[in-house]
Amino acid sequence: MPKRANAPEECRWVFDVFSGEKAERAVELCLRGYTLRKMALLTPMELADLLGYDEVTDAEKAARRLREAAGVDSRPVTLAQLRQRQDRVLKTGVEEFDSKTPWRGVKFGLIYGFAGEYGTGKSLFAKQISAVALAGGLKVAYFDTEGTFDVDSATIENLFKRFGVSNEAVTQFYLYRPTDSFQLIEQIRELPEDVDVIVVDSLVAPFRAEYRGRQLLAPRQQAMLYALNILQRYTRLGKLAIVTDQVMDVPTMFSTKRPAGGNVLLHTVHALFMMERPSKQKLKGKMWPLDVPGMSPDTEIEYEIRSDGLY
Ligand SMILES: Nc1ncnc2c1ncn2[C@@H]1O[C@H](COP(=O)(O)OP(=O)(O)OP(=O)(O)O)[C@@H](O)[C@H]1O
Ligand SMILES: [Mg+2]
Repeated sequence: MPKRANAPEECRWVFDVFSGEKAERAVELCLRGYTLRKMALLTPMELADLLGYDEVTDAEKAARRLREAAGVDSRPVTLAQLRQRQDRVLKTGVEEFDSKTPWRGVKFGLIYGFAGEYGTGKSLFAKQISAVALAGGLKVAYFDTEGTFDVDSATIENLFKRFGVSNEAVTQFYLYRPTDSFQLIEQIRELPEDVDVIVVDSLVAPFRAEYRGRQLLAPRQQAMLYALNILQRYTRLGKLAIVTDQVMDVPTMFSTKRPAGGNVLLHTVHALFMMERPSKQKLKGKMWPLDVPGMSPDTEIEYEIRSDGLY
């Protein structure tokens, strides 16, 4: 039998919620980084999976006890309370982005999506936002699903120099290299609670690569939706999430491009931008909102790619 006294201080809460073998399992999870707050955000299905409940009702009861213990408030907030909430905003260093977007930068508590063709600067922008966050003393988790993150590259060095990222701040940067979408989901789910900014570059690529063919489209979108759902729960804790996406051609009379993540991405990301670089010979691009609350879709954000990031 597990005992409260044997558990490390930070996991003693487990015994207020669980007993017997479930408590044993919950202590293991707690040691892996599942704090009370994180565990209270799990769905009954996730709890059943992690703790081995056979009955849905038991998992639901556990979820209820966890939420109560964590003080998860199910009451509505008033508009007045919402207005008082001061979520942090980061200036990205892209001048027009910081002046034309509704929050004058990227705002915590939201998921941002950046879609575009290769070489438009999506990864560069994601790294840039990471650098700004690190310089501000924040913790960043960067998921490099395409294996394109080069730690020793001049780009990183230049970015860090531009935004004044100190040597100590580098220890606040966690790089994840998931081998597939399954591992990506597991890693996102097990993120340390004190991470402030989560970057997934690219979110869509592993799902597209693994679920090939039209008949797998539905399970692919379902799996991607689940990954986005976990991110959404983090944004409810006030974290900032950035995801990048490729584009796909829509065969119409005028060839147009749409985010490859499709409707799932459009509906779950809070602010979705398209990025385009009309000429690969030029280092200029433009960004526009595909779906950003409070922003007219004809707004254009022009940017320039330089050796130390976007301007
Ligand atoms: N130091 C530099 N000088 C000039 N151009 C650069 C420099 N660094 C990057 N670029 C350009 O910026 C582009 C941005 O690349 P980035 O990796 O951000 O694109 P991406 O949108 O993530 O593309 P992908 O879909 O392939 O991942 C590169 O293709 C390159 O042309
Ligand atoms: Mg990229």
